[in-house]
Amino acid sequence: MKKRIVLYKALSPDLLARLQAAAEVTTVDLARPDGMARLRDALPGAHGVLGASVRLDASLLDLAPELEVISSVSVGVDNYDIADLDRRGIVLTNTPDVLTETTADTGFALILATARRVVELANWVRDGHWRSGLGPAQFGSDVHGKTLGIVGMGRIGEALARRAAAGFGMQVIYHSQRPKPDVEARYGARRFALDELLAQADFVCLTVPLSAATEGLIGRGELALMKPEAILINISRGRVVDEQALIDALETRRIRGAGLDVFVQEPLAADSPLLRLDNVVATPHIGSATEETRQAMARCAVDNLLAALAGRRPANAVNG
Ligand code: DGY
Repeated sequence: MKKRIVLYKALSPDLLARLQAAAEVTTVDLARPDGMARLRDALPGAHGVLGASVRLDASLLDLAPELEVISSVSVGVDNYDIADLDRRGIVLTNTPDVLTETTADTGFALILATARRVVELANWVRDGHWRSGLGPAQFGSDVHGKTLGIVGMGRIGEALARRAAAGFGMQVIYHSQRPKPDVEARYGARRFALDELLAQADFVCLTVPLSAATEGLIGRGELALMKPEAILINISRGRVVDEQALIDALETRRIRGAGLDVFVQEPLAADSPLLRLDNVVATPHIGSATEETRQAMARCAVDNLLAALAGRRPANAVNG
């Protein structure tokens, strides 16, 4: 008898066909108002699920006692309680590597957009304010030659370091639990304690995964250490930053600005104070969101799922 799979992410026809050849597939569209109710209805009897952006907590997992594998279309695995998955004997897989370069591009897009005030000034033109030459009121700050502080030196951190050092002549400093001699040798990066990094960097870019250790890592005290002209970039997870403390720091111009791709609550509420600030560039968690990369992530997730259902160890198993 074919195994049962529940998809809560749309797949391209070729990938869907691969799954349908191997299993009985139920697709749930979470964009529908009743999407979560449909997911709950589909879970009983499922052997595998594939999707992203849903917190598969105990109440959902209890509905799927036959579940063998969760194939997450993401590199981040903060939506899952791994100890609980271990207890239930469920394999969790993710999609690392394929999104590294695209997510680093997003980080750099935010660095450039905030420093050069791209969104604010594009809106200024659109609103008809460009009537004569520019003055200091429209000036931004340079990116090239500045110091980039990368918090978390994993794959994405390293891809940022490469862009910064090779493309923009920036000094790279980083904070991570372990030294990264390769990154130091390749990009001249220097490892600092977090406090020191915050005090020295012109751009602080957060790339750490969300965990108990990193939740609230950047709070009021940490923001107070940053230079007044510094810019905070967050491409990791919203909860790594105390969002209210950040709003206060941006409103009072304690720091120059922020480029934010991730938020405590996603989607970000339309009335968030962050959206009233002209020194904030807020994007809708576009980290890996290009056609090419999302297709590569989906393919990787399908490979992981099919391997696990066939009794093989998936290439990207997070646990087990
Ligand atoms: C991930 O894969 O965890 C990213 O946040 C998605 O863009």
